[in-house]
Amino acid sequence: MKEELYKKAVTVLENNWKDSFSIPCANLYPFQWKWDSGFIAIGFAHFDMPKAQKEIETLLDAQWENGFIPHIIFHTDNDSYFPGPNFHRSDLHPLSSKKYKSTGMTQPPVIGFVLEDMYKISKEKNESLKYIETVIDKVFFNHQYFYSKRDPQNEGLVYIYHNWESGTDNSPIWDDIWATMNPPEYTFERRDTTHVDASERPSKREYDHYLHIIEIAKEHNYSDEKIAELSPFLVQDPLFNAMLIKSNESLINLYTLIGGNADKIEQLEKWQQKGKASFNAKLYDEEIGAYIHYDLRNEKPLRFLSSSSFAPLFANIPSQEKAAKMVDVMMDKFGGEDQYLCASFDPTSDRFNPKKYWRGPVWINLNWLLFYGLKNYGFNDISNRVKKDSIEMIEKNGFFEYFDSRKEIHTDGKAGYGGNHFSWSAALLIDMLNN
Ligand code: GLC
Repeated sequence: MKEELYKKAVTVLENNWKDSFSIPCANLYPFQWKWDSGFIAIGFAHFDMPKAQKEIETLLDAQWENGFIPHIIFHTDNDSYFPGPNFHRSDLHPLSSKKYKSTGMTQPPVIGFVLEDMYKISKEKNESLKYIETVIDKVFFNHQYFYSKRDPQNEGLVYIYHNWESGTDNSPIWDDIWATMNPPEYTFERRDTTHVDASERPSKREYDHYLHIIEIAKEHNYSDEKIAELSPFLVQDPLFNAMLIKSNESLINLYTLIGGNADKIEQLEKWQQKGKASFNAKLYDEEIGAYIHYDLRNEKPLRFLSSSSFAPLFANIPSQEKAAKMVDVMMDKFGGEDQYLCASFDPTSDRFNPKKYWRGPVWINLNWLLFYGLKNYGFNDISNRVKKDSIEMIEKNGFFEYFDSRKEIHTDGKAGYGGNHFSWSAALLIDMLNN
């Protein structure tokens, strides 16, 4: 065990804790983010279970009356972030939280499997299960929201309507969608580039697209039906859907431990069957040898390899045979000796940029998913390399938000980018060091 590093990770989490929730990092992200909270809770579970539980409780407290859970919860009036609460206007939706201001979009549904991980990590299983009983129905309700509101063709696959819902905000995959749009030029003052080098962040024109999608949703008070009908961005994302499927599986396991709840388990199993079948039929690309995104608005596959392409390993979606093919593709394109695993976008593509936000750098949360996903299928050596690479990047540079995938850049400790003292990099390192 790397004790020094472990201690530093604990300090990062403790400093980002704000009484009832955590921020991803100071300045750049001063509020609570949905999937960050899930990863952070896994880190806390290893040394401070009450904080892990509170983190999730606070997030779920911001759930809307229709089951929706927002991607950012604006707990404070902090104007260091754009677009803030007055831009997003969650109050426009009739069922939004009366207690918290938030965005009107969501993020990958990780909370189901986070609860199961917290249970597995806990040394007091009875207490842990009692806690889970107090929150699990909210997570189930959230999944009901997804399947009833975001699956217009009834496929068992849900859509995202904004790139910020994907979690992989600036992926080059979205370039194909921006090419179908021509948004107005908005006037606004960005805050991200006052905290972080502009070369590591999206461009002004890219922001126009992001804002435009939100404006359309706001014009219709964030109505799911209208968004499904009108949003220029409507995508079935393999990472997002894999998180939902993994969380379904965890809810089944947890409800089984709790006992009763036969109707919910039955419902979850139906979603699983249908979801996994459609996932393999629609999102697996034989020629590429991995999973891809599907543009539901323009009815066309988006045929690119990214770290999201491999996330289904985490949710036991591919067969062993498909998994073996995927791992070959991953090692061939992403796994060269000169690269750290795993770049967020195909290093052999001309859209690859190893310094820029989701267009190439390595992210610890995707690595964490791969670490477990590869283990699921018995690829232990590669799984261990993902862990070793993650530790090495953090040791050399610090707890950054993302890292250059090119090993040669890691010589002077400046290959970590975006925010520093970043919560999920610390939390998931703690978890990997314990495994
Ligand atoms: C960035 C990431 C997103 C994350 C957020 C807060 O926007 O793209 O995935 O949740 O930062 O860390």
